[in-house]
Amino acid sequence: MSGAGSKKVAVVAGDGIGPEVIESALAVLDGAGAKFELIHVEIGLARWKKTGLAMSEEDLETLKECDCILFGAISTPPDPNYKSVLLRIRKELDLYANIRPFQSQDLDFIIVRENTEGLYSGLEEVGVEESHTMRVITRRGSERIAKKACELAARRKKLTIIHKSNVLKSDCLFLETCRAVAAGRGVLCDDMLVDAAAYNLVVNPQRFDVLVTTNLFGDILSDEAAGVIGSLGLCASANLGTDHALFEPIHGSAPDIAGKGVANPVGAIRSAAMMMQWLGEPEKARRMEAAVQRALACGAKTPDLGGDCGTADVTKAVVENLRIF
Ligand code: NAD
Ligand code: IPM
Ligand code: MN
Repeated sequence: MSGAGSKKVAVVAGDGIGPEVIESALAVLDGAGAKFELIHVEIGLARWKKTGLAMSEEDLETLKECDCILFGAISTPPDPNYKSVLLRIRKELDLYANIRPFQSQDLDFIIVRENTEGLYSGLEEVGVEESHTMRVITRRGSERIAKKACELAARRKKLTIIHKSNVLKSDCLFLETCRAVAAGRGVLCDDMLVDAAAYNLVVNPQRFDVLVTTNLFGDILSDEAAGVIGSLGLCASANLGTDHALFEPIHGSAPDIAGKGVANPVGAIRSAAMMMQWLGEPEKARRMEAAVQRALACGAKTPDLGGDCGTADVTKAVVENLRIF
């Protein structure tokens, strides 16, 4: 896949179904004619089991040096003192915007999730009788995620700010900051409490266009949204900062189906398409998405979608459809 003077993409296949879906994404990138140098980096539970370390400082440097990262999924080691490696990468690379598009035949909305603060602050006191996690909302953090969401909403219909400011007073700052950014940019905007948003995602998902929310709400609502459009295995994401970017399916390492060859690779393929878009190759990204849609429409579906295809069958169908588009 390499080409002279080409960009460097760090590939973290990870654990469980991570390597299965990344293999598929790489095959589709290859089929689409993507040219870059791949730097494979072993990070995650398998690495931790072998070496006692899930990610080294050198790995982190390699991730920073590459143009961007394609990430499968990693498992969290069963150690109470262990902190998520993915969260460390997001923080160290300041990947503050987690963009999660959801599309199906009749739905099309995007969850924009703040990715570095909120209840993921890492400020915790864990005791035997009492434990605390500090929820951090800053004006700077709210402003920059609101700007990212407004960039998307300005090209679409509207922005909905999802919050819980009736109970969490830290969310008053988030809500007010997002409102001000939207007003300043002339973006049509409304807001909704997160519990009502969870309900509306199921009963009236068409009402949403671009949603902006804090870290944990975005995590939970995006898995719910994946259920609404049909499967966690269909959904992709871009974790964007100012200097770095990481692309990953929104699902985890799915230990219950790992090694069976039935993982849905579409989320990983779509993440690779988002990466191509970000790398300035919109035509390849468009072809990859079109090939996915056509493969699905022709019945290339894994069991999570009610089909009986394996990961390799779906991959083959997508690659074959690339020739048409
Ligand atoms: P999960 O997303 O791995 O799986 C939830 C359910 O969805 C499972 O039933 C699984 O089989 C199904 N599923 C997920 N992806 C699928 C796919 N591509 N095709 C078909 N079915 C799919 O969540 P979990 O089971 O709660 O977590 C497992 C591990 O993954 C944990 O260690 C968790 O910390 C980790 N995790 C990692 C990431 C990441 O690396 N980005 C994200 C979420 C969870
Ligand atoms: C996600 C995942 C991560 C999160 C975990 C694995 C740390 O669930 O990317 O949605 O909570 O952000
Ligand atoms: Mn999640």
